Amino acid sequence: MYHIEKNTVQETLIIPLYGRKVCSEHFPDLFKDPEAERICGMLDYDFAEKGKKMESAAGLFGALEVAQRQYDLAWEVKDYLKKNPDAAVVNLGCGLDDTFRRCDNGKCRGYNIDMSDVIAVRNELLPENDRERNLAFDLNDETWMDEIDCSNGAVLFASGVFYYFKTEDVKALFQKMAKRFPGAVLVFDSCNRRGAKMMTKTWLKEAGISDVGAFFSLEDKDEIRNWSGDFADVSAKSYMRGYRDIYKDVSLFHRLMIKFCDGFVKMQIIKITFK
Ligand SMILES: C[S@@+](CC[C@H](N)C(=O)[O-])C[C@H]1O[C@@H](n2cnc3c(N)ncnc32)[C@H](O)[C@@H]1O
Repeated sequence: MYHIEKNTVQETLIIPLYGRKVCSEHFPDLFKDPEAERICGMLDYDFAEKGKKMESAAGLFGALEVAQRQYDLAWEVKDYLKKNPDAAVVNLGCGLDDTFRRCDNGKCRGYNIDMSDVIAVRNELLPENDRERNLAFDLNDETWMDEIDCSNGAVLFASGVFYYFKTEDVKALFQKMAKRFPGAVLVFDSCNRRGAKMMTKTWLKEAGISDVGAFFSLEDKDEIRNWSGDFADVSAKSYMRGYRDIYKDVSLFHRLMIKFCDGFVKMQIIKITFK
């Protein structure tokens, strides 16, 4: 059994991992995820409380969100690999997410980056292989960029990560990535200030995380358009409907939640193309 430290930012990886497992059980036609099921079974973590919460209608919507977000980001990775089959695929704040393996075309190279304690667990459950590396770095320490071979392009993605960053740190990170990885694409999920506040009150409070001051949030993609002269384009799509529209496949309650997330919380997948 492998241990995840409680009351840390690292513990937040449990939420999407468990959400994917729950989705896999409840919506197998949409999100079959045997890896999430396998990994949850191998962690020394008390899922009982999270389990109860996620079985409610609102909890199941949270599960749908995290599974859909992974689907969206994997779609973007595969799309980039069509034109750049040998590219670097970089999972920023990877937790125990296996998106690289889902998108692997047999040629690209994967880099999974997270804090050292997460990487230690990852090395046991999702070990490296000849084209996939697990890297222990704080993303705010830019030396991780030296490890990435971007000579054949790069697609970088972050799933549920920047909510734990201060806006100024996200900005500095984006500016550095844009300089270091010309021609690359960065994709990530975002929500507006209202959504970030709701998250602080629920998920983060539950995880006992109180050490992050200002959370990154976006009302509109254009807020970051001018962050760097190295951005060629910034685009946004609905998180729940922009890639695969599951509106008709879910219950009335979940349809209302989708509308709420699109309109009121502005849950989006943002894509930045670097010059
Ligand atoms: C909500 S989890 C998401 C995990 C994974 N992306 C997924 O979707 O399953 C957030 C992850 O970001 C990582 N993280 C947060 N801040 C980080 C930082 N400064 N450097 C590296 N990883 C970080 C955490 O350790 C955690 O694994």
